[in-house]
Amino acid sequence: MNIVLMGLPGAGKGTQADKIVEKYAIPHISTGDMFRAAMKDGTELGLQAKSFIDQGALVPDEVTIGIVRERLAKPDCEKGFLLDGFPRTVPQAEALDSILADLGKVIEHTLNIQVEKDELIARLSGRRICKTCGTSYHLIFNPPAEEGKCDKDGGELYTRADDNPETVANRLEVNMKQAQPLLDYYEVKNVLTNIDGQQNINIVFADLDALLQGSRS
Ligand code: AP5
Repeated sequence: MNIVLMGLPGAGKGTQADKIVEKYAIPHISTGDMFRAAMKDGTELGLQAKSFIDQGALVPDEVTIGIVRERLAKPDCEKGFLLDGFPRTVPQAEALDSILADLGKVIEHTLNIQVEKDELIARLSGRRICKTCGTSYHLIFNPPAEEGKCDKDGGELYTRADDNPETVANRLEVNMKQAQPLLDYYEVKNVLTNIDGQQNINIVFADLDALLQGSRS
């Protein structure tokens, strides 16, 4: 099962990706998570990505495409994968087609989670993430059982550096500009499925799951 999960910042890609990969036992490939891990480790990739991420800008296509090409060639992607947050530009989508052609694979599901801008801002401003396992919570929409602690492993919850109001505004602007040409790219190929992301988290997952099981068109 080869899946591309798209959506603007805060649409719920990470939240839904966690549920999908748990159910279908495929690797979760999030370019954002890869950049944050590299930043934490202080690698050259991390230093390069940080200057863009801190401003809410996109990391240059050639850097992002390079890490995805390397990741998709790993053996654990043989039985499928879920791409979260990639592609985000038309050149990335074109590169993905070429990478997959080289690997003899195709995308089976191109899913776009749709959420209005005001809701995205509310979600990003209240997001909290577990320092240990990376699970996302929301202070109001998806709170942990105990304030400041992850339900899964008791890890401390923190606010992502790029979730401050100025960076969120720029991230939304930058991503909204790239989103329509990217959606057009997939719509022309007639492979895009839009999902209503403004429903309860479990209902969004039920919709996605039904699609993945082929019971909805
Ligand atoms: P990335 O980490 O991918 O961030 P993003 O796209 O901005 O998306 P987010 O992780 O912020 O949101 P999400 O959709 O995963 O939402 P979540 O599930 O957490 O990228 C970070 C940066 O890396 C980018 O800005 C860029 O610089 C760089 N980068 C990454 N990929 C790149 C690429 N391909 N090219 C170039 N640069 C790249 O949910 C958000 C909140 O809402 C949570 O609090 C959650 O609990 C809550 N929530 C989720 N679903 C619901 C719901 N249905 N109802 C109510 N609340 C909900």
